[in-house]
Amino acid sequence: MRFYYFLAFLVLMFTIIVSVQWYLGKRAIRCINNSGFSARKKPLLKVLIVSSIIFLNLPLFYTFAVGRPHEPLSPFIMYPVVYPYAIWGSSYVLIFLILKISDLFSFIYKIFIPLQDKKQHKTEYRVRRPDATQDSDRSSDLPSSIGKRNFLKIAGKGIIVAPVLCSSYGVFLARENFTVKDAEIKVHGLPDSLKTMRIVQISDIHAGLFMGKKEIREWVKKVAEIKPDMLFITGDFIASPNDSISECLDAVKFLSSFMPVYGCLGNHDYWGNEEVLTKSFKNSGARLLRNEGEGFIFNNTELNICGVEDPMRSTPDFEKASKNLNTGKATILLSHNPNYFDKIKKYDIPLTLSGHTHGGQINIILPGINISPARLITRYTRGLYTENRCNLYVNPGLGTIGFPLRLNVPPEITVIRLV
Ligand SMILES: [Fe+2]
Repeated sequence: MRFYYFLAFLVLMFTIIVSVQWYLGKRAIRCINNSGFSARKKPLLKVLIVSSIIFLNLPLFYTFAVGRPHEPLSPFIMYPVVYPYAIWGSSYVLIFLILKISDLFSFIYKIFIPLQDKKQHKTEYRVRRPDATQDSDRSSDLPSSIGKRNFLKIAGKGIIVAPVLCSSYGVFLARENFTVKDAEIKVHGLPDSLKTMRIVQISDIHAGLFMGKKEIREWVKKVAEIKPDMLFITGDFIASPNDSISECLDAVKFLSSFMPVYGCLGNHDYWGNEEVLTKSFKNSGARLLRNEGEGFIFNNTELNICGVEDPMRSTPDFEKASKNLNTGKATILLSHNPNYFDKIKKYDIPLTLSGHTHGGQINIILPGINISPARLITRYTRGLYTENRCNLYVNPGLGTIGFPLRLNVPPEITVIRLV
């Protein structure tokens, strides 16, 4: 059944990719035909449009034919080929929608305005007819009305550029804007000795094509500067099967040399070889908790740290993870998927740390409206959620999946203090 869903998804994506770009190409060619360019330039411009669309899809053809590259590529391929593909790929559907909405408005305008013009003309005719000199005054208003229409046309065309500008910002600036966020979380009955503890949570690294040496170095530097008492990594170390994890492992090894590091697996981590991944992380000095838990001593006080498997790819089991632990102690649970929070509220766990959502990567906030693609998969999109005595913190992640961009959801390093 899962295979047929996947097949249907592929067919749908292929239809959107081909039909939307085909439409945009045809529309651009129509614009060239109606433009004032000379007959010699028009064919050249049409060839330029078609070859640009083909060029912007080269990484997609490569992925279909050969597969996704697993090692980060050289900047000479990333900047002229891969990033333009990412910017175009994340904008063209929006450009298509803007054009369609503007077509709808101009359709309404064409029906409504002639009717209004006729009505206005009749009224003016009745009022102005006795004085013929006023007719010449009316004709002097025409240039300004044509000017307004031209301005609206140009502004309408300018809006088409907006998705490309937003995507460029999301790919080149917002995606690497690693932000440190402080979170104070109230834990019922927390011993005073644990109130000075500083915890850092990171999530969804997605090491690979868009999370290479340069990006990893930036967030590692920030975590090292914070010097927390412990570091939690809530899954999705890789983006796709066989992605190179060596840079990420080096980072974990470096950080675990001067702070305890705990982690759990995310759904993407099972696409590779999760056993090899688990072993590699253990060798790098981190503890990867897979339905496991252990006691941790801080300021002579013990707390429980548990981690569960991902519910999309395996079976999370908090009871198994905590079976050897003293349930009377404060517990921190690592669960990649925040939806597991609904199933474990009965255990009264004071703090669950999750990731998975990336905060939707794009978050549009308008008065009374909050649009986030993450809402399609969970009601816990990002940040702190408290129900009774249970807290859930959803970290929006460091890396990206799909298109490598973020808008209004910066990659986050969360510094948590329990109070
Ligand atoms: Fe993820």
